Amino acid sequence: YSETGNNVEPYVIVMVGLPGRGKSYISARLNRWLNWKGLKSKIFNLGDYRRTVYSGEEMNSEWFNPSNSEKRERLVDVAICDLKNWLLSQEGVVGIIDGTNSTVSRREHIKSLLSGLVEEDRILWIENIVDSGEVVLENIRCTKLNNLDYSNKPESEAVKDFINRITEYEKVYQKLELDRDRAKHFVQMVNGKHMLLNLICNQLDQRLVYFLMNLHQKNIPLYLCRHGESTAQVKKIIGTDPELTEKGERFAGKLVEFIDNETSGHPQVNVFCSLLKRSLRTAKPFTDKARYN
Ligand code: SIN
Repeated sequence: YSETGNNVEPYVIVMVGLPGRGKSYISARLNRWLNWKGLKSKIFNLGDYRRTVYSGEEMNSEWFNPSNSEKRERLVDVAICDLKNWLLSQEGVVGIIDGTNSTVSRREHIKSLLSGLVEEDRILWIENIVDSGEVVLENIRCTKLNNLDYSNKPESEAVKDFINRITEYEKVYQKLELDRDRAKHFVQMVNGKHMLLNLICNQLDQRLVYFLMNLHQKNIPLYLCRHGESTAQVKKIIGTDPELTEKGERFAGKLVEFIDNETSGHPQVNVFCSLLKRSLRTAKPFTDKARYN
């Protein structure tokens, strides 16, 4: 993978979408993955800038009314100024702007602020559209209630205020559109089911899209388990490819019962195991049941 090291041209990811759509979650996952790949990246979160720049201001949902947008646009200037300095200092190569960026004018503003330092084909716009009210509510409950905007607010009040905040953004929200945004490199994810890709040409765009395709935005339980007791374990031998003992076989039977209970709400469950006999034997009871793949 050639886009590693210090020779990479600056690259910027701009999140797009209404509040409560999981943009910060996606940003955090991309950030972790990029750093792991050796591409030093950093998140510039507009909500954090808001809380710093306007600290002390009461920020209930009315603060997010479109008539107050000038104040919010200023945050973009501050964040992008930091982002550019960070890129210029060569501390890193990929900046992630985590904010709503949900209007055409905001996006054009971002593009013009970046021009001269970041080529247009090095800006990837990632929009996450979620239409399900249930998913949004779940997201609000899991992530927003503990954030600094709502410390000391009762849950019901915080949820109500956040929903009103979304309504304020919805008044002026403009999705990415092929006709209007044909020159932008973008990914539009729709309800975790569809993806619209535009101008995904360079290697980094492609790698990021592949990563996004494999990203789950729902909590998926993952159970890790060792094999049942093996004949080698009883003899205190490490390695080899032994069978299970009787106790190990009993464990395999109990394991499937336990997982049956734990996952009763899931129609399909995937089971992975190694090809060693002790693993295959432990996983065997799962293969007798249709809901396990
Ligand atoms: C926020 O203030 O939480 C997000 C700012 C924005 O992008 O509108």
